[in-house]
Amino acid sequence: MLLNHRAIITRPGQPPPRLIIRAVAQQPSETVPREGDLAGAEDELAWTILLAASGHAERVAHAGQLAAFGLTREGGLQPVPRDDDRAVLTWRPGSGWESHWSDPDPRLPLMDLYLPICSATTERPMTVGHLGQSLDGFIATHAGESRWVTGQENLLHMHRLRALTDAVVVGAATVALDDPQLTTRLVEGPNPLRVVLDPGRRLGDQYRVFNDPSAETLYICAQSMVDAGPPRVGLAKVVGVDGSADGLDVHAVMQLLRDRGCTRIFVEGGGVTVSMFLEANLLDRLHMAIAPLLIGDGRPAIRLRPPAALGDCVRPRYRVFRMGGDVLFDCELGGDTTTGTAETTAPPSVTRVI
Ligand SMILES: NC(=O)c1ccc[n+]([C@@H]2O[C@H](COP(=O)([O-])OP(=O)(O)OC[C@H]3O[C@@H](n4cnc5c(N)ncnc54)[C@H](OP(=O)(O)O)[C@@H]3O)[C@@H](O)[C@H]2O)c1
Repeated sequence: MLLNHRAIITRPGQPPPRLIIRAVAQQPSETVPREGDLAGAEDELAWTILLAASGHAERVAHAGQLAAFGLTREGGLQPVPRDDDRAVLTWRPGSGWESHWSDPDPRLPLMDLYLPICSATTERPMTVGHLGQSLDGFIATHAGESRWVTGQENLLHMHRLRALTDAVVVGAATVALDDPQLTTRLVEGPNPLRVVLDPGRRLGDQYRVFNDPSAETLYICAQSMVDAGPPRVGLAKVVGVDGSADGLDVHAVMQLLRDRGCTRIFVEGGGVTVSMFLEANLLDRLHMAIAPLLIGDGRPAIRLRPPAALGDCVRPRYRVFRMGGDVLFDCELGGDTTTGTAETTAPPSVTRVI
């Protein structure tokens, strides 16, 4: 299915608005068998609203009041009365965006999944980690093969996360093994700042993320390694941060990105990198996509220091989204996170099909 769409996307602190006219080819069912209950959630209008919401959140938050917004022809948001037919979103100070759609609107799953991310502001920033793992907890084979652990819908989800965030962070092994571009090729929306963590400067300059000019790339290494090579790796600027016992201090990485105006940060992988941010308590949400696949042994997803007892483990509040054959757990790691076994039977706060 080809959807022709045009919208002006702006973000605070970013270069002047650019007109995006791009054909969006998104029909996951063309490549992946889907079950009959999938709704038409890849709705063009819903995605346009989400892009507008992520671009306008800061400005609306500064205005400070509860207000409703409609979508302009150009893909922007304009204030309208709350009972106006054109109202698609309401901004609630303190919590962020709320959609005006309710069940069974097929666009609701997209709004449910992404509005919490679109609601982030400088005062309430958001960092999301995502991994796609097998049933037995691996994100790749030992050799590093990870393509199609999860399916096309989950890949689309990752491109959406890139489009809604200011920076996408990956570890050195992901660049070495996947050579990703980390752009938003599958969806409409801006490319994020690309951030590669390579403490020991072991990566060469041949990778696409260092040579593709469609987005800026930061190459972060240990402070002690900054002068061990040229100030750029390909087109990417080399930046040093302090080290920790495990490698780079992820708090310092986070501070660096916040100082550059990155309100929404997407930690895309691999397992070592997401685990470091999780262990440091820097993730607000963890998106864990689970695929019906058994790898047996390979590169693990999350690895944390082992707890003394099950009661010490984190049991976050969660929502569930079906993505083709995969199931995405959207875990909230903020204030309401519980520990232990008390909540074992708590149902997810929302279950949707994307
Ligand atoms: N299924 C998925 O969701 C998914 C997503 C992304 C990647 N992948 C796959 O996952 C595999 C790579 O994942 P991975 O877990 O092995 O590695 P990774 O997280 O991609 O990279 C880990 C490496 O990055 C560097 N690094 C990252 N953060 C660091 C920190 N805070 N401090 C120090 N060093 C840091 C270290 O390099 P040094 O060892 O040089 O110090 C570390 O070994 C690949 O096969 C890729 O295809 C899967």
